[in-house]
Amino acid sequence: MNEQSATIAITGASGQLGRRVVELLLERVEPGRVLALTRSPDKLADLAARGVCVAVGDFAQPEKLAETLAGVERLLLISTDVTGDIRVQLHKNAVDAAARAGVRHVTYTSAVDPHSSPLAFIREHAETEDAIQASGLPYAFLRNNFYAEVLLRSGPQAIATGELRAAAGDGAVAWVAREDCARTAAAVLATPGHDRVVYDVTGLAAVTYHDIARELAAVSGRPVCYVPLTADEARQGLLAAGLPAPLAEFLVGIDQAVAQGALSVVGSAVRDLTGQPPARIGDFFAQYRSALLAPVSSVS
Ligand SMILES: NC(=O)c1ccc[n+]([C@@H]2O[C@H](COP(=O)([O-])OP(=O)(O)OC[C@H]3O[C@@H](n4cnc5c(N)ncnc54)[C@H](OP(=O)(O)O)[C@@H]3O)[C@@H](O)[C@H]2O)c1
Repeated sequence: MNEQSATIAITGASGQLGRRVVELLLERVEPGRVLALTRSPDKLADLAARGVCVAVGDFAQPEKLAETLAGVERLLLISTDVTGDIRVQLHKNAVDAAARAGVRHVTYTSAVDPHSSPLAFIREHAETEDAIQASGLPYAFLRNNFYAEVLLRSGPQAIATGELRAAAGDGAVAWVAREDCARTAAAVLATPGHDRVVYDVTGLAAVTYHDIARELAAVSGRPVCYVPLTADEARQGLLAAGLPAPLAEFLVGIDQAVAQGALSVVGSAVRDLTGQPPARIGDFFAQYRSALLAPVSSVS
């Protein structure tokens, strides 16, 4: 493979991660080498205007996808935002299409500890990893830990009320900024090698909800403390707030997985691959201070 001219394709390029990976890649390679695939090409008109090749890429249309991937050497396969069996099938379609098209290397956005996670939506990543390995394609798995952006949903409420309420016990999570995931993915795509490797893409350290409450207090200048709940208390609170029962169950399940340590994986991939350490959680909160201090009703 001539690394200086290889075509690099990114699926899901209109998603938050995909778009950012394309933008970061454009700092390192010529736009004509980048193929941005999405179900909504109109959302990428600005990238097309910069010389990026933009095309339809839908895992639900594997035949068309295989045609589009012809000539691609490196592919970033971004996991879809649906859950359940349909997600695994979509990912398998994409893997099959890549193999048929003769793609030389696949990078897949996975999740930490996918084979033994208590969370079903994380175990779905294990099935995709297994399908990629079975395909014989050289691969890099980017096992992204939970995005720190997830905390921007609960943070404003915690700051407004002074209480961060969760059923996460003393469990810790190595939250990673989406930007750090994007930087890491761009580095893997733009550099040779990464053959049959697994990278844990995480924050610098695993932090407990006590730590998060402390950092929210520091960034807001207001008192915030962590109130540990039982799973049932958390469930009742979410239902009382109007959340549908399946969503409440999903969120409580995440808390319990945190309590069990399922998201405490810390890896060095961000620093190793980009040369820059991942954002500390306090620095991440400082960057999003205005969002954290926004009136609670305006934050989704
Ligand atoms: N680590 C975490 O905490 C965390 C949190 C949320 C999500 N995730 C996972 O990471 C992925 C990227 O995160 P994000 O923040 O960019 O999510 P996002 O903004 O919600 O993007 C969803 C992505 O799914 C793609 N997609 C959906 N259906 C597809 C299909 N049929 N064929 C091809 N692509 C399809 C979308 O592509 P187009 O719309 O461009 O076609 C888009 O890139 C998510 O999809 C999810 O699997 C991780």
